Amino acid sequence: MSILSDELAFAAARAPIQAAIAAATLVGRGDERAADQAAVDAMRKALNAMAIKGRIVIGEGERDDAPMLYIGEKVGTGQGPELDIALDPLEGTTLTAKAMANALSVMALAPRGSMLHAPDTYMEKLAIGPGFEEGIIDLDKPVEQNVRALARAKGVKNEEIGVCVLDRPRHAETIAALRTVGARVHLISDGDIAGVINCTKPKTGIDMYVGSGGAPEGVLAAAALKCVGGQFQGRLLFRNDQERARADRAGITDFKRLYMLDELVGEDAIFIATGVTPGSLLGGVKHKGGQVRTHTLVMNSATRTTSELRTEQLA
Ligand code: FBP
Repeated sequence: MSILSDELAFAAARAPIQAAIAAATLVGRGDERAADQAAVDAMRKALNAMAIKGRIVIGEGERDDAPMLYIGEKVGTGQGPELDIALDPLEGTTLTAKAMANALSVMALAPRGSMLHAPDTYMEKLAIGPGFEEGIIDLDKPVEQNVRALARAKGVKNEEIGVCVLDRPRHAETIAALRTVGARVHLISDGDIAGVINCTKPKTGIDMYVGSGGAPEGVLAAAALKCVGGQFQGRLLFRNDQERARADRAGITDFKRLYMLDELVGEDAIFIATGVTPGSLLGGVKHKGGQVRTHTLVMNSATRTTSELRTEQLA
């Protein structure tokens, strides 16, 4: 039996829930660092109360740069299952500071050694939702070809394919190519984990995610798709030697490798996200009558279960 039980998943949900509540006190205050720090402190406290032998493999950064939740930090009481933890206590620091939609607190748990130790670099990403033949998309092919392949597989016109892309100057050519082939382009200002997960939710109108963003966010998004199905491909991108050195320290040997979902997240995984601000996936943190309410997605590939958790606690 897998060590990833639903009991463990619900117990672990306390970490992103407390992080989201802490970050929410700083929504709209224009201070990204303070919001991130509040989330980090709260998540670390909750993780250290858990009966696990946890090790951070994707966290706030390398030990020298991040005093808390750094890569390699041990968390938990030291009693219980041995787990690797990937986390982003506040995914969407700018979204939070500016009181914009879709800020989340995110975490994934998996058995030791099963998640890629993604360095803090960029990753080129391509994702689609579940229900399609493996390999119909290919990160090495032009984006137009991937849109045509997905449209064929869905039995629709290219014009009915929605593609989510981070709105960045570096994506100008991709966006132009997508529009030329007829796809609808959903531009987001931040938050590509939600962008990838949206491919699995027909009501969002998003069928595909393309573009580059954080590599750690790529592994977290892959963990989510591991739970709900879908395809994800990623390749690390390096802007300078410092980033290559980071990858080297993370144990990456092939810098050009194309990673498929199962190579990013090799075994079962638990993925948890709590809404900080309201968004396409989750409601945000709300205060009402002395209570604080939260909305969380808890997914466990080991039990093939997805749950929505709504909590209320005294503010
Ligand atoms: P932060 O919460 O760390 O600010 O990340 C938000 C985000 O939009 C991620 O979702 C995405 O992967 C990354 O930033 C993109 O990076 P950049 O803003 O440099 O394009």
